[in-house]
Amino acid sequence: MPGKNGAIKLVAGNSNPRLAEAIAAYLKTPLTRAVVRRFADMEIFVEIQENVRGADVFVVQSTSFPANDHLMELLIITDALKRASARRITAVLPYFGYARQDRKPGPRTPISAKLVANLITRAGADRVLTLDLHAGQIQGFFDIPTDNLYASPVMVRDIKDRFDLANVMVVSPDVGGVVRARGLAKRINAPLAIIDKRRERPGESEVMNVIGDVDGRTCILLDDIVDSGGTLVNAADALLAQGAKEVYAYITHGVLSGGAVARVTASHLKELVITDSIQPTEAVRVADNIRVLSIASLLGEAIARTAAEESVSSLFD
Ligand code: R5P
Repeated sequence: MPGKNGAIKLVAGNSNPRLAEAIAAYLKTPLTRAVVRRFADMEIFVEIQENVRGADVFVVQSTSFPANDHLMELLIITDALKRASARRITAVLPYFGYARQDRKPGPRTPISAKLVANLITRAGADRVLTLDLHAGQIQGFFDIPTDNLYASPVMVRDIKDRFDLANVMVVSPDVGGVVRARGLAKRINAPLAIIDKRRERPGESEVMNVIGDVDGRTCILLDDIVDSGGTLVNAADALLAQGAKEVYAYITHGVLSGGAVARVTASHLKELVITDSIQPTEAVRVADNIRVLSIASLLGEAIARTAAEESVSSLFD
């Protein structure tokens, strides 16, 4: 596919090959032949097996589990492309890991999100295309153009298809997620509730206050990340205790580490809907109450627009 900055090339690391294939199918552009494998001692070996000289290259790689390996793959692929004279390299990060350490909550702690942004930039990325950053200001941690896409249009379509919107209430599982949840509530014209989590004294368990009347409502929890599943499962219990009819959750990034899938399966959540920004494991695929929406066409369209120097933000108008 020709773009304004030379031919488009798509390169995939090992984090999410299924999503990379789906993006390639959307763009009708095959993945560039490349080897990304390990030496015997687990160091990463990369070889791009096609000419990329002068090309507009998009590297699709989520820095998901194992985060350090996938980040290192991204850096080494980027270095290989730079040295092979690619005209422009865009790091396409469907999930940007290390985002949760985005400020110093106490003395002598790192700002890992900034460090990782520096690493990606120094490796040679010219642009970043990512999705639902944990905090919008992480965009500013990159000193190169960074587009932060939203999964909300994909979620809104699904919600409109499946729910009687007259009875839906959007719920933010914590105070930090209110802006995100309010955005969804506005798009589907539903009211908003907020869960206020508080630990009154150190060592005591968290008290969850539900702000808003959820009695008899179908509640939809919205968040960017589900990791251990603790936030969601506790939020679902708190909403049901306040009389909610049923609780669903729409979460962009299904990190789902450790026993999270089992925790969600055993919970009172009617359904957890995630995207394929992180490649779903077999456990996720067979879980009864977890469903995956694909963001391949959203990312594919954003790549096409970036290559054509067209507006990306208008995807969300
Ligand atoms: C927190 O700020 C995030 O938005 C998520 O609520 C959190 O990362 C979820 O983590 P867990 O699933 O482990 O409770």
